[in-house]
Amino acid sequence: MSVIKTENIEKIYKTKSQQIVALKNVGIEINKGELVSIVGSSGSGKSTLMNILGCLDKASGGKYYFNNRNIADFSERELTTLRRENIGFIFQKFNLISTLTALENTELPLVYAKIPKKIRRQKAKEALKTVGLENRMYHKPCELSGGQQQRVAVARAIISNPEIILADEPTGNLDEKSARQIMNILKELNKNGKTVIIITHDKQIANQTARKVIVKNGTTQNANI
Ligand SMILES: Nc1ncnc2c1ncn2[C@@H]1O[C@H](COP(=O)(O)OP(=O)(O)OP(=O)(O)O)[C@@H](O)[C@H]1O
Ligand SMILES: [Mg+2]
Repeated sequence: MSVIKTENIEKIYKTKSQQIVALKNVGIEINKGELVSIVGSSGSGKSTLMNILGCLDKASGGKYYFNNRNIADFSERELTTLRRENIGFIFQKFNLISTLTALENTELPLVYAKIPKKIRRQKAKEALKTVGLENRMYHKPCELSGGQQQRVAVARAIISNPEIILADEPTGNLDEKSARQIMNILKELNKNGKTVIIITHDKQIANQTARKVIVKNGTTQNANI
């Protein structure tokens, strides 16, 4: 069953002087439980596609079905709920809040979801344990290495038990060893049933996933590997 299905997605950015066609004719289908990389060179449209798949931005044309529901039918409020409950985001720059500890950063999605403190603390501890950071719970981001910060971001992404993990260049700011750790965690999450989508320009990362979708000049094609 497909979790994500797009038909002829198009994205046009309008600036004062010009129109930029960032995506055109994008048709992709991702099934529940898949591990997929979306790969392409800089400027090919990967982040634009991730923003649309993550319902952070709307396409200019085409259709997007999330769990077989056309997201055009969703209100802003419903989209916020859909994101919060179904999608765990991981970004290249970690996007942690510098004044909060690893534990507080991890539990943030549950703060927004108004989950009682005791429960969210418990869940945040479990999520940090999953990423091997149970000994760093009370550290602030500046007291953690890049790889550890990204692991906090993974814990934050999985705390709501989302169906999908959407990661945009999750290893882009990491050294080889930390990148390997993050990939191993993502693969393990996939083995445990999560649909994991990794956006990357790094062929070595893309080669680790069962399926690759290539983005080239704003359009996608499946790669045969
Ligand atoms: N907000 C925007 N306004 C106008 N043009 C944009 C905007 N965001 C992206 N673009 C353009 O859309 C195209 C695709 O950009 P996108 O950020 O999706 O590429 P990318 O594949 O993620 O690149 P990178 O690997 O460098 O992150 C580029 O030509 C870019 O300049
Ligand atoms: Mg990008």
